[in-house]
Amino acid sequence: NGALVPWNGAVANIYSPVCIPTEKGLERKLLGSIPDTTAKEAMEALDAAVAAYDNGLGEWPTMSVEGRLHCMQRFVYLMIQQRELVIRLLMWEIGKTLPDATKEFDRTVDYINDTIDALKDLDRESSRFQQAEGTIAQIRRAPLGVVLSMGPFNYPLNEIFTTLIPALIMGNTILFKLPKHGVLAHYPLLNAFKEAFPKGTVNTLYGKGSEIVSPIMESGKVNVLAFIGSSKVANGLKKLHPKVNRLRAILSLDAKNAAIVTKHANLDVAVNECILGALSFNGQRCTALKLIFVQHEVAAEFTAKLNAAVSALKPGLPWEKDVKVTPLPEPTKPAYLRECIDDAIAKGAQVINENGGYSEASFVFPAVVYPVNEQMRLYHEEQFGPVIPVVPFDGIEEPINYQVNASHGMQVSIFSEDPMEVAKLIDAFVNLVSRVNINCQAQRGPDVFPFTGRKDSAEGTLSVFDALRSFSIRSLVATKVTESNKH
Ligand code: G3H
Repeated sequence: NGALVPWNGAVANIYSPVCIPTEKGLERKLLGSIPDTTAKEAMEALDAAVAAYDNGLGEWPTMSVEGRLHCMQRFVYLMIQQRELVIRLLMWEIGKTLPDATKEFDRTVDYINDTIDALKDLDRESSRFQQAEGTIAQIRRAPLGVVLSMGPFNYPLNEIFTTLIPALIMGNTILFKLPKHGVLAHYPLLNAFKEAFPKGTVNTLYGKGSEIVSPIMESGKVNVLAFIGSSKVANGLKKLHPKVNRLRAILSLDAKNAAIVTKHANLDVAVNECILGALSFNGQRCTALKLIFVQHEVAAEFTAKLNAAVSALKPGLPWEKDVKVTPLPEPTKPAYLRECIDDAIAKGAQVINENGGYSEASFVFPAVVYPVNEQMRLYHEEQFGPVIPVVPFDGIEEPINYQVNASHGMQVSIFSEDPMEVAKLIDAFVNLVSRVNINCQAQRGPDVFPFTGRKDSAEGTLSVFDALRSFSIRSLVATKVTESNKH
């Protein structure tokens, strides 16, 4: 509610994935401690957001488009002042390399600026009148109410802001739960929210979902759930809302995106793009390639090239030059990846690259696992880490069947230089996923492109333009045309 809440005594320790030697061996470095929001404080934050919205009559939802744009421009100005600090925090807190952390910050600023421009376009569109059957209507874009915005550690800034910013600029008020890892990177920006927007417009929380988010959802006062994470958590949160039919959900969820490398592929292109797709930020992207199908005829050559390219990746600390493999923020991830690799080995696969799967403390060297089949966990589970399962196949119906039977449908990457084959695969996959990539890795960006998914992968659509529509409703002002008002 525009004020810092006095510290209640509860703290959460924030550890870096970067480890330091201690008496007990290598341990994650303690970066700092932050106040943990209590359930009572969370409900006060909710009340502040509800009061600031005031059934659509509050200062923020009734502010002119120019006024809202002005506040957002002020926010961007204040945000840019914190650029160096936020980038350093992203490296320390989630292990993002310097180029990736810089890209995350800059692309988020670009996203906000693009959103500002898009709102101007949308406003021009709204100022148009539509006339039919003797009635003339002005279509306005109106806010929806209180938005609860939450996201994951992998893009703590970019992903959360791709829901929070459009929701805010459309006149909604916000409850913003900071991510578990990547929370410190937000701290330098919290004051910018406080300075740029009216009191109660953006309310920030940090803590355990079960303690602070559950009561918020149970209150029934949240109008929009904007969540990026797993479908399991999203479904659990939706169920807590007493009137789920009144809740709009904008969700970006599970994905195990496949690459399909056919015998007609340029294998050098396929290897380069598969490595980018599977191992950028250690594979911790919802858009990452998490399963690679390769046609039998070229499987030996492809895996040899993949092996060589993965083995050449430089491990190290986020700020070191040319580093591609960095420590993992989730403490349980190395053990989980080991379990998946061991399961595949027990069922007949091998780690084919030297040092593949080698792990020390928070660090795991990427593993290429081959040949993977349907019996293995790596075929089905979203590993969200540096493991590349490779599945040999004969006919293209095999990867198509994988997608048909999958519970998710976000992206696919097709590698082939045969136009007829590509056309056939596009036709099959365009109705199974929400983005088909040809001879290139899977990715969300550019952020102006629509971002969605099928089945358990998404609900609603994000992107600069789509998000403005997702976080608002078209509200008509209609009047009958009469002799006296027809001009
Ligand atoms: O985890 C999902 C991120 O939004 C990925 O974005 O694929 O453009 O790097 P990106």
